[in-house]
Amino acid sequence: MHWRRASTNKSFGTAKRGDRKHGLPVTSFFMNFPEIHILELETTDSTNRYAKDNFDVLDDCTLVSAEAQTAGRGRLGRRWFSPPGMNIYVSLVMKQIANPFYATIVSSLAVLEMLERELPRASFYIKWPNDVYADHRKISGILCECSTTGASIEGVIAGIGVNINLEKKEIDSIGQPAASLKYLSGVHYDVKKLTRELADSLAKYYAVYLHSPEALFAEWKERNYIIGRNISLSDPTGNVRNLFIRDIAESGELIAEENGVPCRFNCGDVTILKESPPFSNT
Ligand code: BTN
Repeated sequence: MHWRRASTNKSFGTAKRGDRKHGLPVTSFFMNFPEIHILELETTDSTNRYAKDNFDVLDDCTLVSAEAQTAGRGRLGRRWFSPPGMNIYVSLVMKQIANPFYATIVSSLAVLEMLERELPRASFYIKWPNDVYADHRKISGILCECSTTGASIEGVIAGIGVNINLEKKEIDSIGQPAASLKYLSGVHYDVKKLTRELADSLAKYYAVYLHSPEALFAEWKERNYIIGRNISLSDPTGNVRNLFIRDIAESGELIAEENGVPCRFNCGDVTILKESPPFSNT
């Protein structure tokens, strides 16, 4: 297997006070960002599998990146469409996070920042628990897995897939509403350049987590589309419920109402119902 080690030396500098669109909601502190090392693979079955099997020998903040995956893993045992050279397939080794929910938050905010920098006119948002959408089409999925020894969690592997250059024909073959940057803009993108930009954003949000998990959670909650909306939630056994979403708890649970009765959920597939207010990220 061919691979080489590279690293992102480029930095945003530090988060600045009042840096809102691509920064923290209200920040009055300055942070150093960790350095992300990018480990580039040509083809692997799954970057998550690779990072998990090599967790002990990989440094914290290693970003395992592949040009293609032969068995890309999705949530709930699904496959992630991973043709060569088209998209971003990466897994970040996070040894300072034990809660996969917070690894998901770091990842989804980083993906949003990278996408918005590239295509500011599009409306990107986070759909609970771990998808990034453009309008009603999924453009990115995140699968966080714990690395464990016995009963203790050693860290988290955050697997991130972002559709970059998929054509309409390939998108139509996915079987659910999906998008890529190229689908949205008609432009072809340099996947390696965007991977480095994503690495920079991951470094930034990892640093925010280490400095203030509360600030990170607040920003993530603000970028979720489902609070105050009617959704249907399909649980892993296929049960579908219609819910009104009041809030998201710091544990990541949905705080909801079903026919006026309060309830909470921690997993499932969300569909935003059409009678919900239209999306706007302004
Ligand atoms: C989802 O079902 O939405 C999660 C998809 C996660 C896909 C990414 S691609 C890189 C990493 N390696 C994997 O095998 N899966 C994740």
